[in-house]
Amino acid sequence: MSAPVPNPGILDIHAYVGGEAHAPGASRLIRLASNEGALGPSPKAIAAYKAVAEQIHRYPDGGSSALRAGLGRRFGLDAGRIVCGNGSDDVLQLLTRAYAGTGDEVLHSVHGFAIYPISARFAGATPVAAPECGLKTDVDAMLARVTPRTRVVFIANPNNPTGSYLDKAELRRLHAGLPENVLLVIDAAYAEYVDAADYTDGSDLVDEFSNVVMTRTFSKIFALGGLRLGWAYCPAAVADVLNRVRGPFNVASSAQAAGLAALEDTEFLERSRRHNAQWREWFVGQVRDLGLVVHPSVANFVLISFAEQPGDRADAEGARQLLKSRGILVRQMGSYGLPHCLRVTIGLEDEMRAVVAGLADWVAGK
Ligand SMILES: Cc1ncc(COP(=O)(O)O)c(C=O)c1O
Repeated sequence: MSAPVPNPGILDIHAYVGGEAHAPGASRLIRLASNEGALGPSPKAIAAYKAVAEQIHRYPDGGSSALRAGLGRRFGLDAGRIVCGNGSDDVLQLLTRAYAGTGDEVLHSVHGFAIYPISARFAGATPVAAPECGLKTDVDAMLARVTPRTRVVFIANPNNPTGSYLDKAELRRLHAGLPENVLLVIDAAYAEYVDAADYTDGSDLVDEFSNVVMTRTFSKIFALGGLRLGWAYCPAAVADVLNRVRGPFNVASSAQAAGLAALEDTEFLERSRRHNAQWREWFVGQVRDLGLVVHPSVANFVLISFAEQPGDRADAEGARQLLKSRGILVRQMGSYGLPHCLRVTIGLEDEMRAVVAGLADWVAGK
């Protein structure tokens, strides 16, 4: 008897493994492995979430209208071209499956976000990884890998896990080098953390060109990862496609309500941004003082490189295990092709101090 067979490409997928969430035996858990906003969600978002409880027998608004209107107001965007999803992962998957299929190629940078090759394979397409230069997207290397089969190009800006970003000019240069039939997806999951003057989330390119989409999430600075809420800002034709293929009720009413409240709490957002900038700078300085290499980051995490010599994996893994023995969870980077690195999310002050103390003990004991 033959068993059902999944579509081509699916069994080539290495299932996404998220950041660890448990450290058996630890009395206190410090979770810095998933880039969740350090301060947690806005109290107004939690109140809005609770207020929905009495109505959960009702289907949600399938068009997420109030939330989209709020996003439009807040960011000065056309709400009619915003499509919300069950996390931005959902939107990224839908875009890939809508625009790429068997025989097509989906391009991303080699240390780009892990969902890009996964969604390419799910679509039956071939993921193509362009090399980076100094842990930063290399526009020329990306453009050199565009072929007649390329359908979708992903760029995380800033990128997870490297923390680097492409400035406005480089992003435009990447777009300018792409054929008009190739969809450029700018994944700006960490946009709110960036304060560099030469940064753009890409929404300006969406307004100008018919082949650019920007995606955003409520999982990072808004700290609503558990609710699963993301969105895309699209040209009208792409929004139309997403609205045809998305689930009719793909965003829970609780997520819509909490997302809107979080969006409107600008004071909390500003506090979260300032917290991140302050403790990222402090943490980077402390870790460099320990003699470790920390890569510049504009996001809410930093990538630390351990010695790139034989045995380097043991170095990063040794440091991670020492931290874990103290209940501190950081992200291993083997699946991103960076086994000699660890990624650390910027958390609360005492959490960052605990990481530095752990790394100092690890360096001293080596
Ligand atoms: C670059 C990037 N894009 C998208 C996501 C997915 O976010 P979510 O599906 O929670 O919206 C993440 C999460 O880690 C990310 O780092």
